[in-house]
Amino acid sequence: MLAAELPGSGVVVTGAGSGIGAALARRFAAEGARVVVNDIDPLRAREVAAQVGGIALAGDAASEPGVAQLVSSAREELGEIDLYCANAGVAAGGGEAAAEPDWERSWQVNVMAHVRAARVLVGPWLERGRGHMIATVSAAGLLTMLGAAPYSVTKHAALGFAEWLSATYRHRGITVQALCPQGVRTPMLEATGEIGQLILGESAIEPEAVAACVIGALGDGQFLILPHPEVAQMYARRAADTDRWLTSMNKLQRRVSGEH
Ligand SMILES: NC(=O)c1ccc[n+]([C@@H]2O[C@H](COP(=O)([O-])OP(=O)(O)OC[C@H]3O[C@@H](n4cnc5c(N)ncnc54)[C@H](O)[C@@H]3O)[C@@H](O)[C@H]2O)c1
Repeated sequence: MLAAELPGSGVVVTGAGSGIGAALARRFAAEGARVVVNDIDPLRAREVAAQVGGIALAGDAASEPGVAQLVSSAREELGEIDLYCANAGVAAGGGEAAAEPDWERSWQVNVMAHVRAARVLVGPWLERGRGHMIATVSAAGLLTMLGAAPYSVTKHAALGFAEWLSATYRHRGITVQALCPQGVRTPMLEATGEIGQLILGESAIEPEAVAACVIGALGDGQFLILPHPEVAQMYARRAADTDRWLTSMNKLQRRVSGEH
């Protein structure tokens, strides 16, 4: 889908009650799209929908019944869904010792939400010969996020699923893009506390800048959307010399944890 095609098109944004999702909803609406604003928090969904003249569909965008309900209600409101932004995410911190429920919730919201959405979207998109999904992943899915194993691992899995979808269906009119920002000034970044601020704070950007980058990337359909362009070099370095990259990440870990 091109940005020029947004007027009148049907767009769903999950987790749009806050941060990046709210900025995407605002920007898509400003470009003339009909926007479904989903969030698990009904108050936030209603607030953002009211701001953008969109349609609030509150609910869990991760569970199987939640996704099925969201997609079928969105289809009733919009007709077919032209663009689905699987943006809702959770950022559980901690390492291998993070609690089981944190690992489980990260898996459900950061990964299975995307799988379940694709399950109900892809069939009709193949019939029409077009469809577009933007998965909000993270630079943590290309690199890693120190101090947050459940987040890093599930974002890698989200990237893996988006790659698989793109590799499987790109010749049949389905565009998949993975949005991979580093720090973005949202409540999620605030909640990462000192370590998040130390690693991401300095280069953090506003959610509106992420939305602008998404609009710019719609047309070329390039798989990776990188609001922090320097992430491309880091990703290349990781692939070219993985041990050197791991050693530099470990150095940063020792710096933030005060070990030497
Ligand atoms: N903020 C950052 O620095 C950053 C960087 C890279 C990627 N991301 C990713 O961007 C996305 C949005 O994050 P954000 O920073 O705007 O966070 P945020 O916490 O401001 O907003 C996330 C929203 O998702 C909603 N949500 C959570 N679980 C949900 C569910 N199951 N169903 C529906 N809604 C749900 C929350 O209620 C919240 O309103 C996430 O996937 C996150 O991992 C964020």
